[in-house]
Amino acid sequence: MTQNTHDRLLIIDFGSQVTQLIARRLRELNVYCEIHPFNRVDDAFLRSFAPKAVIFSGGPASVFAEGAPMPPAGVFDMGVPILGICYGQQVMMHCLGGKVERGHGTAEFGRAYVTPTPTTHPILSGWFDTDDGHGGREQVWMSHGDHVSEIAPGFQVLGTSPNAPFAITANPERHFYAVQFHPEVHHTPKGAKLYENFVKLAGFKGDWTMGAYREEAIRKIREQVGDQKVICGLSGGVDSSVAAVLIHEAIGDQLTCVFVDHGLLRLGEAEQVVTMFRDHYNMPLIHADESDLFLGALEGVSDPEVKRKTIGRLFIEVFEKHAKSVGGATFLAQGTLYPDVIESVSFSGGPSVTIKSHHNVGGLPEKMGMKLVEPLRELFKDEVRALGRELGLPDAFIGRHPFPGPGLAIRCPGEITREKLDILRRADAVYIDQIRKHGLYDDIWQAFAAILPMRTVGVMGDGRTYDYALALRAVTSVDGMTADYYPFTHDFLGETATRIINEVQGVNRVFYDCTSKPPGTIELE
Ligand code: XMP
Repeated sequence: MTQNTHDRLLIIDFGSQVTQLIARRLRELNVYCEIHPFNRVDDAFLRSFAPKAVIFSGGPASVFAEGAPMPPAGVFDMGVPILGICYGQQVMMHCLGGKVERGHGTAEFGRAYVTPTPTTHPILSGWFDTDDGHGGREQVWMSHGDHVSEIAPGFQVLGTSPNAPFAITANPERHFYAVQFHPEVHHTPKGAKLYENFVKLAGFKGDWTMGAYREEAIRKIREQVGDQKVICGLSGGVDSSVAAVLIHEAIGDQLTCVFVDHGLLRLGEAEQVVTMFRDHYNMPLIHADESDLFLGALEGVSDPEVKRKTIGRLFIEVFEKHAKSVGGATFLAQGTLYPDVIESVSFSGGPSVTIKSHHNVGGLPEKMGMKLVEPLRELFKDEVRALGRELGLPDAFIGRHPFPGPGLAIRCPGEITREKLDILRRADAVYIDQIRKHGLYDDIWQAFAAILPMRTVGVMGDGRTYDYALALRAVTSVDGMTADYYPFTHDFLGETATRIINEVQGVNRVFYDCTSKPPGTIELE
């Protein structure tokens, strides 16, 4: 655990899909917080963490289930404010002498409205405006099967909803607060205000900034790594670049970056990355041209998961080779972000299901005797960009659209061939050039071309063509977890299709992908 330099808030995670959003809301308030799973928080941990306040997250369990997740008993005797959310409310009431009931007919999922009771409390300051046209009720987002049926002694009811009579409760004397809904999600419009009130009541100064995160992260990296050597997989994307610069700042030349050219990069990408990191940042950098290895192993492979796993496995092999070549690196650094984690692993007993095996998380075999350094593991993309700015990375670089570790492989559904990759590279470059020329690059979270596993018939210059079809994708998003397609004008799309077909031999048809996420994902595979 890190040295205690800021007031700290502890989030005890009971396995909710949205626990990380609680941390986000708190960081927006410049409050330092850490998320720890309930089963790793005991009384000794509480003493050493010394939180100024505690939040219990939601979770998928029921307090009635055998072995239901519980907070350590001592948390209620620390004399610090506690906020319980959803399951966190239920477990708080259960522990303090209230009652929870199975939700026969009272389950609530999605939008609900909470109305105030006559009892007021500063935790709701800024809530329930009576002149906002909604008669003082507030929209909240619920997701609960069980509900509290009797509040614990000392608690008061501050708000109710049709199926949650104890939607907002407080024990003002002990500074315990508990709500049935999720204030951390967008669909609870005043949710952020509730967190703001909570941390204000708990006495936080709001002095934790990205600069502070940087210092904290550097200290953690030094603590973790000691005098050992680290290699960092550099992809040229924002995440691994920020991770590399941060780690370099922490441990200098104990870090060697390995840039693996798997033959699945975009046009001119390898040269740009090598120039920037070797020449500009002066970092020890190995440029590993392994395109034959990767493309050879991917020959004939069309299953998306097999592709991802193959690429993950080869990355590891290449890293292992270079870990030895730098004289025994024992740590592998990666720019893994929180969305990669939540979509790839299940919290024990939690609900997060595997959607895709992200190569930078799922591909790490046990046998690889290296420890991981992942300083961005708890950050969202926009936070990584803020950290990159803090570290002095150029704006143009930080603003680059994300590019996935498996590269063009997952933009080439079906079998991957060098011919297809070459066409894709050139088409993608034209598409991005169009977007830049029209001044749209920064309005878009991510844009790319994908080459479809089909040929179609066309006519060019009075002759028949039988060439590849491309899909263009562009999405808006805040964190990559949900996304919407970008509404280009028809003129833009028409002009772009024409340019691609004229400038890139081998393409005779262009589609635009209008799928949001969900139900689609951003990448095609
Ligand atoms: P999906 O396709 O899952 O993508 O909606 C969400 C975001 O993650 C990127 N992505 C990856 N990034 N390794 C990465 O580093 C991966 O295996 C990977 N797969 C998807 C994707 O480009 C988008 O920004």
